[in-house]
Amino acid sequence: MRPFAIKDKFIPRGSISLSGDKSIAHRALIIGALSSGKTIIKNFPIHDDSLATLRVLSALGAKIARGNKQQVAVCGGTGLRKPRKPLFVGNSGTTLRLILGVLSGAGFESRVAAGKYLSARPMARVNKPLRLMGAKIIARKAGGEEYAPLFVSGGSLKGIVYRMPVASAQVKSAILLAGLFASGKTCVIESVKTRDHTERMLKVFGANITAGKKNITLTPDKKLISPGLIYIPGDISSAAFLIVLAAIIPGAKIVIERVSLNPSRCGIINVLKRMGVNIEVLPLKGNGAQSFEPLGDLIVTSGKLKGITVEPSEIPSLIDELPILMVAACFAEGRTVIKGAGELRFKETDRINSMLTNLRSMGANIHSAKSGGLENIIIKGKGMLKGARLRSFGDHRTAMSMVIAALAAKGSSRLDDISCISKSFPGFLSALKRLLR
Ligand code: S3P
Repeated sequence: MRPFAIKDKFIPRGSISLSGDKSIAHRALIIGALSSGKTIIKNFPIHDDSLATLRVLSALGAKIARGNKQQVAVCGGTGLRKPRKPLFVGNSGTTLRLILGVLSGAGFESRVAAGKYLSARPMARVNKPLRLMGAKIIARKAGGEEYAPLFVSGGSLKGIVYRMPVASAQVKSAILLAGLFASGKTCVIESVKTRDHTERMLKVFGANITAGKKNITLTPDKKLISPGLIYIPGDISSAAFLIVLAAIIPGAKIVIERVSLNPSRCGIINVLKRMGVNIEVLPLKGNGAQSFEPLGDLIVTSGKLKGITVEPSEIPSLIDELPILMVAACFAEGRTVIKGAGELRFKETDRINSMLTNLRSMGANIHSAKSGGLENIIIKGKGMLKGARLRSFGDHRTAMSMVIAALAAKGSSRLDDISCISKSFPGFLSALKRLLR
């Protein structure tokens, strides 16, 4: 337990650059390990989740070396080997789901165990399509759902056409990674487009993959070859906490440099702009930095926020930013409705429960309601919150959202435990210190 007291109030000012995007980092490591040649990954984020993927790949025989200055080198193409011990993915959902795709294609058996929070998250959504491809996966079963730990017997896969029943980039990526080992084409059909880092990264490594608006087709007829160097732009999901901080504290102005501007991840920028936040987007032209993903600088100044409606089609582009968006909505004037937020119940914790509990204790008018098969969050913004005793529920994004809420609230607050922040943004408190001088 690492409790945290929030009393001091400052006006955010200055510029900052952030460690690389977590989602891109997982994919760079995994695809680098499957490709021939050496991949140097720059601006690699060092946090619990990225290190979970690094350790799992090393246990599978990949040659990965950590340099100083957030640099990692992956020497791939030598093939993966049966791990000596069960693999442990900690609480990293992306590690678990993506590595299942790889293990499904590998010609050996493996066991995968997860930490307490991830072991309570649903796995049938990934296991089902991988089984259709021919993988043998045995999972812990409870109440009609499947959970870690898992036993995977991989090899002899065939390509499938799979229409995604839930919008999930992790599931899509697991299928595509398994598709690399399959005979024949694999096609994934999405009803709502989710983050496309796997598709982009596979293309950079030479895979025969075509991505339409909602259909992705992979033909495993090309050898993956490393492009040599990959620069990971700053994590937009981490940036979101700082953007909202600057948006809700009058007089604030911050610059976030070299952050990911992948359109499938920029929902938070679009939605905050609609609420009245001043965000200037300065895309960086040219690809000198070898990022292979769009990136640029953001200039954020505080504004008078108003309530808005977020449509279900927007949710995948800001799924991880919904907790901090709820905080922003409390500081807005008027009603914000977030439609189709039900997937939040299946994250590190039930984020609808964690955010509603905390924000209500700060005086927010917020509730969830089911309508037409969707779960919606309704917030009647009052332009303010008051300090309170807060709980992280072991979830990094709940914890960081509540630190931001507390910094902008009237009065002091106390958060029970912030150790979970190391999952994705260990530099969070020092980033705040830097901007709140
Ligand atoms: C991720 C996809 C999303 C997101 C998670 C990272 C990824 O999960 O919430 O933090 O890197 O593919 P789902 O695929 O479960 O929506």
